[in-house]
Amino acid sequence: MFVVCLSACTTSHTELAPPPRAALAQPFQNGAVASDHPVASQAGLEMLLLGGNAVDAAVATSFCLSVVRPYSCGIGGGGFMLIYEPGNRHELPSTVALNYRETSPVAVDRNYYVNLKNAGDKHSQFGVHSVAVPGTVRGLLYALEYYGTLDRATVLAPAIRAAEFGFTADASFLSAVATLRTVRDELPEMRATTEYFWNTVCNAGELKLSDRITNPQQAAALQLIALHGDEAFYAGPIADAIASVMADHNGPMTAHDVANYSMRIETPLRGSFFGRDIITMPPPSSGGIAQLQILGILERRLSEVLNVDVARRNSIDPNYVHLLVEAMKHAFADRAAYLADDDFIDVPIERLTNSMYVKSLADSIDLNNTQPRFNYGSVAPAPADSGTSHLSVIDSTGMAVACTETINTIFGSCVEVPGYGFMLNNEMDDFTTIPGEPNAYGLQQSEDNLPQPGKRPLSSMSPTIVVRAGRVELIAGASGGPRIITGTLQALLNCMVFDMQPEAAVTAPRFHHQWLPEVLQFEDRWTDEHVIDAMQRRGHTTGRRDDIGVVQLIRVSTDGIRAASDPRKGGRPAGY
Ligand code: GLY
Repeated sequence: MFVVCLSACTTSHTELAPPPRAALAQPFQNGAVASDHPVASQAGLEMLLLGGNAVDAAVATSFCLSVVRPYSCGIGGGGFMLIYEPGNRHELPSTVALNYRETSPVAVDRNYYVNLKNAGDKHSQFGVHSVAVPGTVRGLLYALEYYGTLDRATVLAPAIRAAEFGFTADASFLSAVATLRTVRDELPEMRATTEYFWNTVCNAGELKLSDRITNPQQAAALQLIALHGDEAFYAGPIADAIASVMADHNGPMTAHDVANYSMRIETPLRGSFFGRDIITMPPPSSGGIAQLQILGILERRLSEVLNVDVARRNSIDPNYVHLLVEAMKHAFADRAAYLADDDFIDVPIERLTNSMYVKSLADSIDLNNTQPRFNYGSVAPAPADSGTSHLSVIDSTGMAVACTETINTIFGSCVEVPGYGFMLNNEMDDFTTIPGEPNAYGLQQSEDNLPQPGKRPLSSMSPTIVVRAGRVELIAGASGGPRIITGTLQALLNCMVFDMQPEAAVTAPRFHHQWLPEVLQFEDRWTDEHVIDAMQRRGHTTGRRDDIGVVQLIRVSTDGIRAASDPRKGGRPAGY
């Protein structure tokens, strides 16, 4: 007999009430979901309570996020899902990475944005030229068919309910509406492709906290997907609507591109950290390689900066902060030089993650000073809330899912699909669109990451599962562009090195360095000025920014399952 901590098992047609805060301190005993929105976490919990597994819960949560966080992720975008299943239930791999990252349309090649530049800026960030072929529906339905147990109608029901009957506006939604207002003010040509969202979903920008938001058009899309599967999206009426908005605005993506979208099933990357197995995402994610490099460096040098006694360690010790920042700089330098879609480019994964190379990076770190930019990585090239959403799930069998999905920046391309109430992504901006110019996240990337027909843009999404002695210990990931990598890692390190519980681990203030620009950013909520002073004395240029990633974290300990949603975006976990 178990205690249901939340009211999520109800199937009423009203929004499910969030749990009292006090309930979060109690570990769950059977399963948990941590996502960017309370209604989405409860959609996942509803599946677990119906007897579904972690994949059923993840798929239900994701479709629900498409409705309640339509500016971060959704059926117009793509993502990565890492699945870990203890034991071998069937002939499929029990640890798998689903890659449903969007792909470049056939008409877009390496010179596309250079040629478009004559017609003005930002074509890779806004409008029809920024859209890559969406993968989310194909990825989620593959996961459900091969790893889930429930039927499509059941897992899509909570999302359809949220779209039809509504959910309430929170601070994150209002902030996204403000961003959309700015886009419409600064780029008036985007008004034509944002009318439904602006007028109906955002109430012409007049949305207030706790107002009810509905999206009957997206409910119609989800109902079609529930009835007809991914054919409805890739070959049926939704595909037709995508092709028609692209054609109306002279975009490069065609119905043929949409119909030919294929996802990839990958073998996850694996590494280790003080006796734990780290399971993470291979290219076109850059996050997995970066995490393994950073953790490898820390494993070699942490003893020089931290007390052996865990209870006496301090996660804001300047010596620790400096070491972690220097490790980040190495990883981001290699990201800029080498990483891209390994279906098109020979990415030297083994060389970048092997222990001799990681040792050489670790040995090169000066614990007292930061170094000139070309001392990081192995070859330094000439410098030629964002959107996104993560969810973590565990079920009562120990099956775990870490899933990060995105439409890239807030509201993606700002091109909505007429009649179906969702935005198309602007993932093309994750390619190197103009060699030598940084993308919307300020990331310098190599020419290996130029667009090519069918290629996937490099991503920072880093879904990660940590296994210890064969059992899942941690499930994590984040949103936040390149800050996904550093935000996820800091939350994981807060658990693995400082023994924090998930709520403290995700709430703790964070810092970020991505090698270029050469600025060490501290969150505005970082109050320990002495650490910033100490970093400046080591030669770092420091800066401030609002949020460094939005993390969803689950930790399994002997007394149960603790889940935490990052307060930076108003999520809330659910479990039982
Ligand atoms: N669109 C953000 C990322 O994939 O890194």
